[in-house]
Amino acid sequence: MSRQKIAAGNWKMNKTLKDGLDLVKDIRANTTSEEGVLTILAPPSVFLKAVAELVADAPHIRVAAQNCHQEEGGAYTGEVSVEMLKSIGVSHVILGHSERREYFGEGNELLARKVDRVLAGGLLPIFCCGESLPTREAEEHVSYVAQQLEEGIFHLSAEDFSKVVIAYEPIWAIGTGVTASKEQAQDMHREIRAMIQKHYGSEVAESTSILYGGSVKPANAKELFAQADVDGGLVGGASLKAPDFVAIIQSF
Ligand code: PGA
Repeated sequence: MSRQKIAAGNWKMNKTLKDGLDLVKDIRANTTSEEGVLTILAPPSVFLKAVAELVADAPHIRVAAQNCHQEEGGAYTGEVSVEMLKSIGVSHVILGHSERREYFGEGNELLARKVDRVLAGGLLPIFCCGESLPTREAEEHVSYVAQQLEEGIFHLSAEDFSKVVIAYEPIWAIGTGVTASKEQAQDMHREIRAMIQKHYGSEVAESTSILYGGSVKPANAKELFAQADVDGGLVGGASLKAPDFVAIIQSF
């Protein structure tokens, strides 16, 4: 998969069906495929089918789940499989979001299995990584993220790896209003691309899309997306309001 400009909106546990569909209609009405940006919407799982139906004929908009189960199917009450997601028109799955890691105990080993399941099922993972504030302050953020990638996705073959989108999301910037500076974002994205290069070579590294996440908003999207190794954003809060998210999509 070649490197793409991507604006992904992670709704987390927000919106009712009606409000969510109104938001999708608004985003759709105000964006076009000519902008050359892939917009990915990640609503809660109960809304995925309705959202997928609304954007099925909009080639620039895709739909992501916020999570999935690592097994193919069976007795896992309350869980959602990759096959189910695929059957309703979902194309991507966000994996390893820091909220999943922190509140649901998802570690790199489990995430590696989820990554494998998503790829085996024909969907595309958006793999999140990123350090906490104490890790950043101890200047251990590069090695911390390196370990997340080593254990989460670097076991993949080059062919499978080329289907992965990476989202670097420093935890101290998520939902806090504090954004990483454009230099901090670029530095880490360059490091991540170098790690990919070491494992898979330059061609794969250059074609990997690496998104920044953490308080992306219309006021900072342009300078973040202008960085050489920042290919777009994974957006939480600002993806819930159509004017803000459209402005972010149009910030490339
Ligand atoms: P935020 O969330 O944009 O609200 O900081 C980003 C994310 O968690 O993906």
